[in-house]
Amino acid sequence: MALPYFQINGGTRLRGSVRIGGSKNAALPIMAATLLCEGEVILHDVPRVADVKSLAELLTKLGVNIEWRPDNSVRLVVRDEMNCDAEYDIVRKMRASICVLGPLLAKRQKAKVAMPGGCAIGDRPIDLHIRAMKLLGADVELVSGDIVAKAKKLRGAEMFLGGPYGSSVLGTGNALMAAVLAEGTSVIEMAACEPEVVDLANFLNQCGASISGQGTPRIIIEGVKELKGCEYRIIPDRIEAGTFMIAAAITNGELELENCRLDHLMAFIDRLSAVGVHVERKDKSVTVSSSRRLEPIEVTTQPFPGMPTDLQAQLMTLLCLAEGNSIVTEKIFPDRFLHVAELSRMGARLHKSGPTVIVQGVKRLVGAPVMASDLRASAALVLAGLAARGTTRINRVYHIERGYERIDEKLRGVGAEIERLEDGIE
Ligand code: EPU
Repeated sequence: MALPYFQINGGTRLRGSVRIGGSKNAALPIMAATLLCEGEVILHDVPRVADVKSLAELLTKLGVNIEWRPDNSVRLVVRDEMNCDAEYDIVRKMRASICVLGPLLAKRQKAKVAMPGGCAIGDRPIDLHIRAMKLLGADVELVSGDIVAKAKKLRGAEMFLGGPYGSSVLGTGNALMAAVLAEGTSVIEMAACEPEVVDLANFLNQCGASISGQGTPRIIIEGVKELKGCEYRIIPDRIEAGTFMIAAAITNGELELENCRLDHLMAFIDRLSAVGVHVERKDKSVTVSSSRRLEPIEVTTQPFPGMPTDLQAQLMTLLCLAEGNSIVTEKIFPDRFLHVAELSRMGARLHKSGPTVIVQGVKRLVGAPVMASDLRASAALVLAGLAARGTTRINRVYHIERGYERIDEKLRGVGAEIERLEDGIE
């Protein structure tokens, strides 16, 4: 089997323009929500990344006809509502498959979804998803590793969806998707406020749902009898945008980002400016450049509108080159530090203690063979490779391809020396 890897010759300043694609984490639940709709759904700006392809495979098994168009648009129509079973072979590849639980239960009265296991970024419980389904009136059981949920008719309910680490993005999504067809009013307290949740609610409203309060911790849903299809454009991917902002800064270059929503990145941009990175809006695009001297900072990840956990690894990579000691604390997934050991192989000085890493700035990183582990940790290694002296080889790039569309091509387009090679084809 061919094993693709990235080879990066670091040290080139990136310059030019990059278009940010549609958000993976918005596209996934919105595609799952099409299970609720009568008639055709057309989605624009759906990123063609491995996770979206896995979900498309699952939805196909669940009776959805999916047609990809060349411009990242997708047409989805539910053809057959017999199958209610999301099997382990797909769920284990992608935890986000859990987002079919709410729509299957609401539309088909039954859902069997394999219980997702842990993953590289830590244990990932789903108690809040199950709490929401139960409060809406479903019977939920765990049978041989599958969550089996049943309800003849869901009824609106008031629910508190906070856990020890705060709100849950996909948990809120599942609750929303189940409550839209329930009888009566539902209220979600401590709802996730992430832009991806707002995008899902806006999509559902366009299909005929009645949701208000999205983007705040209290979402109110008035159940409706049915949802139609609609045509909808997915929001830009804020994590891809943030990753390219760091690519500009870490190479001391200048990038213009098109299709970038700064209002989705306020906390991140606040931290970037404290480091000395300039982010400027210009008409329809955003320009990112940085000063030579990078200042050390303190940063803590938090639910939106705080600093996103999905940019923690990438920001840590930039801080490796700051002049002084930075402190990075992870408050969403306290074990999400797989990049620490790999960055250390490239000369970074990192000291981990519980959910905190002290980053001692160094003058330079050096190229090395490293291993991609989870999606965002892999992006961090690409950024490190772009800045490092010499050659970096990143193995297991399928992790990065789960969430970044053609990242090597996009980086090459702005001057990076990065190639996607396969073992044996040096
Ligand atoms: N949690 C619970 N109980 C639950 C669900 C979550 O305690 O039932 C905890 C988690 O363990 C974590 C915190 O709540 O400590 C937040 O997790 P959340 O449920 O919000 O995560 P998620 O919805 O499973 C989405 C993104 C992740 C992103 C997180 C946090 C998708 C497909 N995934 O996951 O994205 O890190 O929200 O913002 O939307 C990525 O794209 O690389 C990625 C991992």
